[in-house]
Amino acid sequence: MFPFSKLSILAATAALVIACSPSQPEREAFDPEAATGFAQNQLVISDNYMVSAANPYAVQAGTEVLAAGGSAIDAAVAIQNMLTLVEPQSSGIGGGAFILYWDAAEQRLHTLDARETAPAAVDHELFLNQDGEPARWIDAVVGGRSVGTPGLVRGLADAHQRWGRLPWERLFTSTIEKAEQGFTVSPRLAQLVEMEINPGVSQMSTAAAYFFPQGEALKAGTLKRNPELAQSLRMIARQGPDAFYQGPLAEQMVSAVAAAEIEPGHLSLEDLAQYQVAWRDPVCADYRQQTVCSMGPPSSGGVTLLQTLKMLERFNIADYTPDDAQVWHWFTQASRLAYADRDRYLADADFVDVPVAAMLDAEYLQARSELIGDEDMGTASAGDFNQFVAGINVEQPSTTQISIVDAEGNAVSMTSTIEMGFGSAVMVGGFLLNNQLTDFSLDPYNGEGLAANRLEPGKRPRSSMAPAMTFDSNGELRHVLGSPGGPRIINYVTKTLIGLIDFELDMQAAIELPNVTNLNGSTAIEEELAPTHWRQALQERGHQVNVRSLNSGVHGISIIDGRLQGGADPRREGVAAGQ
Ligand code: DON
Repeated sequence: MFPFSKLSILAATAALVIACSPSQPEREAFDPEAATGFAQNQLVISDNYMVSAANPYAVQAGTEVLAAGGSAIDAAVAIQNMLTLVEPQSSGIGGGAFILYWDAAEQRLHTLDARETAPAAVDHELFLNQDGEPARWIDAVVGGRSVGTPGLVRGLADAHQRWGRLPWERLFTSTIEKAEQGFTVSPRLAQLVEMEINPGVSQMSTAAAYFFPQGEALKAGTLKRNPELAQSLRMIARQGPDAFYQGPLAEQMVSAVAAAEIEPGHLSLEDLAQYQVAWRDPVCADYRQQTVCSMGPPSSGGVTLLQTLKMLERFNIADYTPDDAQVWHWFTQASRLAYADRDRYLADADFVDVPVAAMLDAEYLQARSELIGDEDMGTASAGDFNQFVAGINVEQPSTTQISIVDAEGNAVSMTSTIEMGFGSAVMVGGFLLNNQLTDFSLDPYNGEGLAANRLEPGKRPRSSMAPAMTFDSNGELRHVLGSPGGPRIINYVTKTLIGLIDFELDMQAAIELPNVTNLNGSTAIEEELAPTHWRQALQERGHQVNVRSLNSGVHGISIIDGRLQGGADPRREGVAAGQ
């Protein structure tokens, strides 16, 4: 039995970290088994197709599409639509995503960047106060100013055009129906509302009316309708993605941003009309017997994940057990070095010169790995490629991971987000708009010249999202996974890969390994799961140890001997299901 209460949520604001541990009052149970027939917290095995995602209703929408002969991309569209409704704090059509798509017939991996872009009317001083100081992060989040041009609908539509099998409109029916008839509010959604992790939700009138009906926070277990979202989705379903990027819905979004009660923003009709996804090359590296691939810039996720793994490769991790602190000491050191590079160099490569090849160079990473010793190395410095500084950006709990393998063996690994929980809190057409512009460096200077991750019109903010796939030595797909978790995403996905590849655990067991993170600062170990001896063992190696909740939300699928094995992170509310 997983040692969490029904729910454990990490909610953080810039100044405050609140851990909802088992000492929190129990919430009304959300029984996904009763609601959908899916069981949580167990490895699910099937022969044909598999879905793993953050909410049982969304998984149900996906499996229905796959059962009807839909493709992995069809299922992704249906799942994402449902998540917009039932997990509105994490992702939705007002946000953006990165999609890895494995084309089984072509044996080819594609990566699609549907990340938000900065509106044309903003510049790198957007988040500076009158005195030239950057806004407090939480102040920057709320309101129209932080809203980037949403990329998700265009991304899903472009992917569907290429790989969809069922009609686009069909992929909206279950969400439209549920939005009209009502869905059961989950404990996680209710608790995040009640905790006001995003202060904008109660301050902005449209969001407040939805999430605080009659002034009371939405309760778990209640039936919630969202007719406005049903209406928006019906338009997008019937008219296609242009109904989102032009016309009444686009006009509503632009007005809502411009007239936001807090920090009016700059999204324009032209920004929406001109939005385009970017097809990019995946970043890949061999790790032991497998090739690991993920998303390149503007995400820092893939490069940082691969750097960490490559620096760990010279250690015989498989000779140890997963509860041996030595393994996680090495892990934190490799992570320190990788985050030092990430913080300095990674940003949107369409705007700045990101030295991806040099950062993944085997000799470079070998030399970096040799900096790892028996003691915590303290703050790591970045490698020396060129002069820029990417700048610091703070990222907070929300985001969602969708993993899918269809009956033909095509696969999707998609990490999707509106950034902070409840995004900018600007709500329009029944959905929340993102605050993705706060993933840019709020301070464009950082004391060392202009940051690579400074805001520029049309630029995509640096991300940590790391949707991943691995392949065996024959090029066959082995694992599909990813996670939310802000900058800790990279550590969560790396840990799961070590569980899968080094310790040969099944997906569920790998997800359930205790989380450990080091973003080139203190070492965080997971309060609820880390063995008690880790704290002392790491302190003896010089670590400053921080024991806290670490809420990954890994959803993954493995292909083992031709069968599909799905796992879902018990730290959130997801399930895996297949047939
Ligand atoms: O793109 C990113 O990396 C962030 N906007 C993701 C935010 C996130 O994962 C919040 N986490 N739980």
